[in-house]
Amino acid sequence: MLDATAVGPGTRVLDLGCGAGLFARAAADRGALVTGIDTDPAAVRLAAGEVPEGTFLVTGAAAAPPGPFDVVAAVQLLMHVADPVAVLRAAARRGPVVAATVWGRDDECDLRVVGEALAPWLGAARPSSGPPPVTEPDRLRTLAGWAGLVVERLDEVVCPFWYADEDELLGPLFDSALVSAVARRAGPVGLRAALLEHLRPFRTATGGYRLQNVFRVLVARPEASE
Ligand SMILES: C[S@@+](CC[C@H](N)C(=O)[O-])C[C@H]1O[C@@H](n2cnc3c(N)ncnc32)[C@H](O)[C@@H]1O
Repeated sequence: MLDATAVGPGTRVLDLGCGAGLFARAAADRGALVTGIDTDPAAVRLAAGEVPEGTFLVTGAAAAPPGPFDVVAAVQLLMHVADPVAVLRAAARRGPVVAATVWGRDDECDLRVVGEALAPWLGAARPSSGPPPVTEPDRLRTLAGWAGLVVERLDEVVCPFWYADEDELLGPLFDSALVSAVARRAGPVGLRAALLEHLRPFRTATGGYRLQNVFRVLVARPEASE
């Protein structure tokens, strides 16, 4: 994503939904001037610690500072908002280049097995009616168009995730809000066993785990700036 948007020294980057600041850190390492925003105050605190030279604010994407920015990024955000078009429209108003990543479809991402392991405690999954998810490439293109963006590229990036052992894989999962909530209901021991059972096909010969996941990377420009 940084390559696709030519982020380098002095590039002014707005990172929407910055989370703990991983993308912001990578951009700042290239010399970019990063502003990150997130609705979660704890995430903003982490990001500010990760990138002390950046500027971080607790706010929603629609209320992001006006900039000007050279690149507006939304890394793994669009699946988590009620109105992805509103987020993309806000991005389009703040910079001449908008980049967003989303997961691939469930069947392209081995991490889906985590959802499958949690399913007995979460009840019914996504409804089968309604619009397709934002992880569908055609849907992502459509939403970008509705937000006034012209899609320049929509790439598919295959990323293997390697974990040295089950603790490295399960530790961050149990720290997440969703899994820790299920663990409170299911009991941590039972949930751990269910997760390991679903993850067994991805075990490596050395006792680690390898899960392969697809990300889509969209790069677009606001219609007016073409
Ligand atoms: C899956 S995380 C991705 C975090 C980070 N971009 C990354 O890739 O590591 C999604 C983040 O978006 C934030 N978020 C959700 N809705 C938001 C909104 N409307 N505006 C800004 N941030 C939002 C969440 O608090 C969370 O930190």
